[in-house]
Amino acid sequence: MKKLIKIGAIVLGVIAVLVISGSVYFNATYPKAIPVPNVKVQPTAERIERGRYLANNVALCMDCHSTRDFSKYSGPIKPGTEGMGGEVMGREMGLPGIIPVKNITPAALGNWTDGEIIRALTSGLNKHGDALFRLCLIQILFRCLKKICMR
Ligand code: HEC
Repeated sequence: MKKLIKIGAIVLGVIAVLVISGSVYFNATYPKAIPVPNVKVQPTAERIERGRYLANNVALCMDCHSTRDFSKYSGPIKPGTEGMGGEVMGREMGLPGIIPVKNITPAALGNWTDGEIIRALTSGLNKHGDALFRLCLIQILFRCLKKICMR
């Protein structure tokens, strides 16, 4: 019986060591943030217009990243809130928690480099390299945005 307890203790000890060292390794190694691309985008009138068109009409950025008036049919964007965030997506939408939609105007992203914004759009990582919740369509649009952004 004593031998069985001893073996059990050793097995538990080995499991504990594996779990602790595994979680230390995992936390120190992941997520593997890809490096920030070293890019400076020249804001030409043509690019700004293309971005406005994409954000408002194609990629739905503004539909999520603005406050909406859901008292009206189809919940139009409240004028003046474009890109400022303000909506909160929560459990009523089937999500696992509460996700505030972020402000993506220059007031919030002003201290992001062009490379950090491109990395967020193409890889779904924020300025600090942490993963953004996959709800953000930017991750679904990953491939085509990579092409668009790099133009
Ligand atoms: C379906 C709604 C939705 C759409 C569409 C969407 N986003 Fe988002 N976006 C979010 C949410 C929610 C977050 C916050 C995610 C988080 O906190 O993990 C976010 C986060 C971001 C962030 C990171 C901001 C920060 O401070 O960390 C950027 C940048 C961003 N979105 C840009 C865009 C752009 C550009 C588009 C269009 C190409 C877009 N998003 C489309 C919902 C959306």
